Amino acid sequence: MLPFLRSDLAQLVSYTPHPGGAEAAVHGSPTQPARVDRLDTNESPYDLPDDLKQKLAWAYQHELEANRYPDGGHAALKGAIAQYANQSAHQSAQSTASWVTSAHISVSNGSDELIRSLLIATCLRAEGSVLVADPTFSMYAITANTLGVPVVRVGRNAQTFETDLAAASHAIATPAAGQPAIRVVFMVHPNSPTGNALTPAEMDWLRSLPPHILVVIDEAYFEFSQQTVLAELPQHPNWVILRTFSKAFRLASHRVGYAIAHPELAATLEKIRLPYNLPSLSQRAAELALAHQDVLLAAIPTLLSERDRLFQFLATLPGITVWPSAANFLFLRLQNDPAAETLENLFQSLKAAGTLVRKTCGGLRITVGTPEENQRTCDRLSSLL
Ligand SMILES: Cc1ncc(COP(=O)(O)O)c(C=O)c1O
Repeated sequence: MLPFLRSDLAQLVSYTPHPGGAEAAVHGSPTQPARVDRLDTNESPYDLPDDLKQKLAWAYQHELEANRYPDGGHAALKGAIAQYANQSAHQSAQSTASWVTSAHISVSNGSDELIRSLLIATCLRAEGSVLVADPTFSMYAITANTLGVPVVRVGRNAQTFETDLAAASHAIATPAAGQPAIRVVFMVHPNSPTGNALTPAEMDWLRSLPPHILVVIDEAYFEFSQQTVLAELPQHPNWVILRTFSKAFRLASHRVGYAIAHPELAATLEKIRLPYNLPSLSQRAAELALAHQDVLLAAIPTLLSERDRLFQFLATLPGITVWPSAANFLFLRLQNDPAAETLENLFQSLKAAGTLVRKTCGGLRITVGTPEENQRTCDRLSSLL
């Protein structure tokens, strides 16, 4: 190891975006079929419609200046996001108030960037540890590890995947020797990879956390679940919501995420982030997506009914447990697979047949694709099991 590197980094591995093989995912490979159904990263299966791509290309050609830095304050995009956030709170029938303003928003290069900024803002200099409830989104712990922030892990109920709240409370009350107390709790709503939304008991527990603990509620899949804690945010200055344009808004390649938070926290995130963190084209793409949300989000009912169809099918397969999901993916486990060999075989066989899914947390997470992709998933799984 190079002598100037931090010693703890030697144990870390870099994030593998397509563990099934990025090359194969994009191009096919000699051992892979030419057409690969990429159902491993929970993106929308639908690209931007042609007319929106043309609008974006037109903006790039005629309005955006490649030689100029982007708007480092994201003014136009923040305004559009604030409006969308207010409207999304109304739609989920929880509130009619329009209190979200640009001062509550921080925009990032993917919500992954915000995860890092939040850790920098709270836990660096050995000031705090983070709590995660496994299985959950891996980036919280990965990012904490890169910053030397300790991660405390608690479990979830094996049937429902509800957080083990007794263990979580115990972890908060009794920090491990030599470790700082928990300062951030990460929750995904609905959770990835398991698809379950926060339960009333989990919500009550989050409400009960003291003001010196930051509660991060990651609503990456909000547009699918239509469940948000936004209406409660004004009562909890220690809550922050993360959202992304990478899923329902079909902009994963543009890397746009955002936080909705108390203005002081939003202002702190602004202090921490790099000055021009989001290219002009990505800002414009997100603005365009919001302006045409009726078109883009119109695909959601189809995706949800496809998810339900896939769920019904998976539930009939022998030897599989599949869980209901409030998001655009399903999680399954094999019932008798102590050595996890069968799971690995199933994963590899699906890949060889042309369906790339995510093997994670002792199961497979399958993104809902187009009806054709989903049919192929069903056919391949039927023949393999
Ligand atoms: C729960 C959760 N949060 C955040 C992200 C990352 O989103 P982004 O593409 O905005 O970095 C993902 C992506 O899979 C996710 O599942």
